[in-house]
Amino acid sequence: MLATRCLSRPPRLGLQVGRTVGAGGSVERMPIIEIERLCKSYQVYQKKEGLWASVRGLFRREYRQVEAVRGIDLTVEQGEFVAFLGPNGAGKTTTLKLLSGVIHPTSGTARVMGHVPWKRENAYRRRFALVMGQKNQLWWDLPAQESFRLHQQIYRIPTSSFHQTLDELCQLLDVKNLLNQPVRELSLGERMKMELIAALLHAPEVLFLDEPTIGLDVVAQHNIQHFLRTYQQTKQITILLTSHYMKDVLALCKRLVIIAQGQICYDGSLTGIIDRFSTDKVVTLLFGGDRLPSQWEPLGRVLEVVGPKVKLRVERQRVAQVLASLLADYSIEDVSVEDPPLEEVIADAFNQVSRTSVPGAPLDRIVPGTRV
Ligand SMILES: Nc1ncnc2c1ncn2[C@@H]1O[C@H](COP(=O)(O)OP(=O)(O)OP(=O)(O)O)[C@@H](O)[C@H]1O
Ligand SMILES: [Mg+2]
Repeated sequence: MLATRCLSRPPRLGLQVGRTVGAGGSVERMPIIEIERLCKSYQVYQKKEGLWASVRGLFRREYRQVEAVRGIDLTVEQGEFVAFLGPNGAGKTTTLKLLSGVIHPTSGTARVMGHVPWKRENAYRRRFALVMGQKNQLWWDLPAQESFRLHQQIYRIPTSSFHQTLDELCQLLDVKNLLNQPVRELSLGERMKMELIAALLHAPEVLFLDEPTIGLDVVAQHNIQHFLRTYQQTKQITILLTSHYMKDVLALCKRLVIIAQGQICYDGSLTGIIDRFSTDKVVTLLFGGDRLPSQWEPLGRVLEVVGPKVKLRVERQRVAQVLASLLADYSIEDVSVEDPPLEEVIADAFNQVSRTSVPGAPLDRIVPGTRV
């Protein structure tokens, strides 16, 4: 992320915020991101249709209050790789913008490595980076190399460590031969790799990634995932990742935070989400002989039938009952009962949390009669 003014580099302390050395010399983890009751609402001009309404709007405007983030609490420890998920419009990007100091909150507090992000202290800017898959942060007409040099000047990165980090990142991302090509000529995947390099040149301790693999093909997604996993494991930085690609999440994160309608509705492990949101099990049956049930509806939803092998989705609490009745009436050679794939459970979770209206203030409120 390119800053707009020069940052003076303070002396690096041996002990960083986020880590402390315990009595036995072991490194204990400390919260590195602390968010309390954070809220952000936007006021959006509500234009009505028609000429008369447009004229009226010149004198009396109506605004709609959009409560994008509604009192979230979140603590992330040093070295965690957290997936921050939610349906469209849930408040993910708004939260990342708040944590990067791009916007101010309406209320609430947040500290990242002890800094209040929206104070925009240089000391903080030097220690984090934000990468947005939707936004191009490099100079479009210049080769990425030039943007990186500018970045070096802005962040006052010593020449030797600049070259060392750049070499290391180019090697990991396999883009060394593209450094002198104008960014506008790069493919989406190549450009995203350059964006990541720009963000990591100043060795941030916290990285906010907002849909870094959006629009990329499967191979490019896989490359970025591999890079992020290797980089995070080596450097032990803290990453908050939003993505709509569940493969990213499954490949990278152990902890999942789900936000819907501006409120956090799940914070836990990947596997814990099954207990919380999955209502079904997948039952696979291998029938012996030719006789199969003629009607499946009373048992569950058929997912697949291949010869004598049938895959059913059955409500969790009915699994024992369904199996008992099938075993009593049919010859069954093999049975397996599994949880649905995590991707499906997460999709179910989104559906459930989107349907549930969250208690509290209404999401959109009309604020009438504000004169301009
Ligand atoms: N600058 C803005 N002005 C007005 N409303 C905004 C603004 N930015 C975001 N919003 C609204 O805030 C809500 C949350 O938006 P946000 O971009 O944080 O969602 P998101 O979770 O990132 O969604 P997506 O998955 O689609 O990227 C949405 O209803 C959006 O319309
Ligand atoms: Mg977003």
